[in-house]
Amino acid sequence: MELNNARILLTGATGGLGQALARALAEQGADLLLAGRDEERLAACVSGLGGTGRIALGLRADLNLAEDIAKTAEAARAFGVDVLINNAGVNAFGLYEQQDWRTLAQVMATNLIAPMQLTHALLPWLKGRERAAIVNIGSTFGSLPFPGFAAYSGAKAGLRGFSQALRRELADSRVAVVHVAPRAIATALNSAAVNALNHALGSQSDSPEAAARQIVAALRGGRGESHFGFPERLFAWLNGCAPALIDQALKAKLAIVKRHAIQP
Ligand SMILES: NC(=O)c1ccc[n+]([C@@H]2O[C@H](COP(=O)([O-])OP(=O)(O)OC[C@H]3O[C@@H](n4cnc5c(N)ncnc54)[C@H](OP(=O)(O)O)[C@@H]3O)[C@@H](O)[C@H]2O)c1
Repeated sequence: MELNNARILLTGATGGLGQALARALAEQGADLLLAGRDEERLAACVSGLGGTGRIALGLRADLNLAEDIAKTAEAARAFGVDVLINNAGVNAFGLYEQQDWRTLAQVMATNLIAPMQLTHALLPWLKGRERAAIVNIGSTFGSLPFPGFAAYSGAKAGLRGFSQALRRELADSRVAVVHVAPRAIATALNSAAVNALNHALGSQSDSPEAAARQIVAALRGGRGESHFGFPERLFAWLNGCAPALIDQALKAKLAIVKRHAIQP
């Protein structure tokens, strides 16, 4: 999809990936409606795009609130949105039985329910645009579910399934559905414990700028499915073909995961 003069709603715009993505999209000539919760960071994101010559508006919204979903969809229609990027997300690392339900429910609500709700609210509008896209920011863990990340993996796997089904349902429309699955990115999403785990497992992280570049390329190229990073992409594929192999491989890593995940 050509992004010059496209109008884009970007959720999670105040986060590490969101800020890099906003800059990369503005560089492509897109105008942006930036959604986030933190007012100060939202204002900084808007003013940070001041020199790009593109329109950038901020919208404060908590996507776990039904009224803020409705407010966001209304603002997006008023903005004349062509592209919805569901980027807001939260993580919760820990052993499932030790995690409180409120945290787990928030992971599901933010990573899966909110993108589905925003998509539902905006789809009739997007179908009326000359060109439109819905971009869902998933994760390697959506195809390579990982111990210590049960709720996050479940939410991202759900987002992948939702994206694929919707893409197939919209195959005869002008609305593209793009699902991207980045590997670890160096942002505040990952707690010190997650960073320590990644280090212990030898997992690589991408910079937010590198991940943003790959997402923009996937959107511009109209690629429905993209998995970023090697060997993560290979293991995600293998998990689809031979999950028992991945069960064995991750069983061998379980002691390391538990050492980092167990709460004192
Ligand atoms: N970092 C990684 O390793 C990694 C890897 C693969 C995929 N991803 C995905 O990339 C996306 C962006 O993550 P990130 O790394 O940039 O994380 P981040 O720096 O922690 O940013 C998260 C963003 O989500 C927003 N957010 C969280 N809960 C929200 C809510 N209830 N309502 C509205 N906005 C909410 C935050 O807004 P406020 O700060 O304003 O509250 C922030 O803008 C997520 O979907 C994540 O799952 C990340």
